Amino acid sequence: MAEHADHPAYPVGLRLSGRRVVVVGGGQVAQRRLPALIAAGADITLVSPSATPSVEAMADAGEIRWERRRYEDGDLTDTWYALIASDDDAANDAASAEAERTRTWCVRSDNADVATAWTPATGRSEGVTVAVLSTDARGRDPRHSAAVRDAIVEALRDGTLAAPHHRTRPAPGVSLVGGGPGDPDLITVRGRRLLAEADVVIADRLGPRDLLDELPPHVQVIDAAKIPYGRFMAQEAINQALIEHARAGKAVVRLKGGDPFVFGRGMEEAQALAAEGIPCTVVPGISSSISVPGAAGIPVTHRGVAHEFTVVSGHVAPDDERSLVDWAALARLRGTLVLLMAVDKIGAIAKALVAHGKSPDTPVALVQEGTTAAQRRVDATLATVAERAAAEDVRPPAVIVIGDVVAIGPDTAPLPAE
Ligand SMILES: C[S@@+](CC[C@H](N)C(=O)[O-])C[C@H]1O[C@@H](n2cnc3c(N)ncnc32)[C@H](O)[C@@H]1O
Repeated sequence: MAEHADHPAYPVGLRLSGRRVVVVGGGQVAQRRLPALIAAGADITLVSPSATPSVEAMADAGEIRWERRRYEDGDLTDTWYALIASDDDAANDAASAEAERTRTWCVRSDNADVATAWTPATGRSEGVTVAVLSTDARGRDPRHSAAVRDAIVEALRDGTLAAPHHRTRPAPGVSLVGGGPGDPDLITVRGRRLLAEADVVIADRLGPRDLLDELPPHVQVIDAAKIPYGRFMAQEAINQALIEHARAGKAVVRLKGGDPFVFGRGMEEAQALAAEGIPCTVVPGISSSISVPGAAGIPVTHRGVAHEFTVVSGHVAPDDERSLVDWAALARLRGTLVLLMAVDKIGAIAKALVAHGKSPDTPVALVQEGTTAAQRRVDATLATVAERAAAEDVRPPAVIVIGDVVAIGPDTAPLPAE
């Protein structure tokens, strides 16, 4: 093999679908490599007397065929590609020799020098596979390859490495993107990529506003709150703006706080677009209803304390005839109540819950501007929350959490195991 060692490896993408691949050894290396081989559609036979529980699960699920025995000469007959990764040196050498004899490309986890193929560090981002191999003939450096791979994939995902799609540029239309609660790191990878590819972004006040500064200058950023509505209602005016920009052939992102379908009017916009025959993609987001309590150290569920959480809009008071909320039923629940848009009405809501039987001592936390640099938390009880919110000048946006989980923290004594 030494005469081959001075040359760099030749990169290639193997199309293994339906082709026999043999894996020798069922340990950690097989466990790491098998998912990609399965995803490639390979017809995989594992030859190994033992396997890790994860590899065994792949066999149980029928994703691989497992022959529970040592490698035997002839196992590589009709094989296109072999991964030799057992802890049995003699078996590895024998399998490797057979691979050489039968011209089967073969990776060896224990000795890259005698292998005829190397596995690159791979990553994927929206239709592209990034595969990195070191070309330094003086010695491979898999950690460096992995670091280069990570840097490229991360940059593709967050849009800092601009790689416009030529054949698959997103079709004109609208993406309803959930931007998460505010911290720019809490948008999804897909949301961030769509933002990077957008021509027009129509953004709400809530959500990751910082990301808008990073957009290239040609991107038109529109503040949804400032769209003039004239003869329309505000929401209709936003729908019209989405429709007009999409009709003009632009890739439009409608960037919303949290998740588009949690008090986000996402479906109203999707319906308006559907009525005009405009393609619409929905990208879920991390809703403030769970993430903002979490960022303030409050778990919305906790074993032995709360087995349910209910997310409620508090934008109208309990006695308002427009209210669709059954406050009496909520007062009977033992679990956690999470209120959005409820700062203004928290006094009336606390009163209604107590009137319907909830203890006035029930812990309450108000978390303002969660996940941002301005995040703050104010603690109270149902009896004191109105007064505390006023005294502390709590303002929207805030998530209000009601229930015993508010008192749970990292120092709370753990429950015994079940
Ligand atoms: C119109 S709702 C939109 C909810 C959003 N779709 C979601 O899933 O988070 C707006 C309310 O969400 C809550 N909210 C959103 N972002 C927040 C944040 N960063 N901190 C506190 N509350 C937030 C507040 O209750 C705010 O009044």
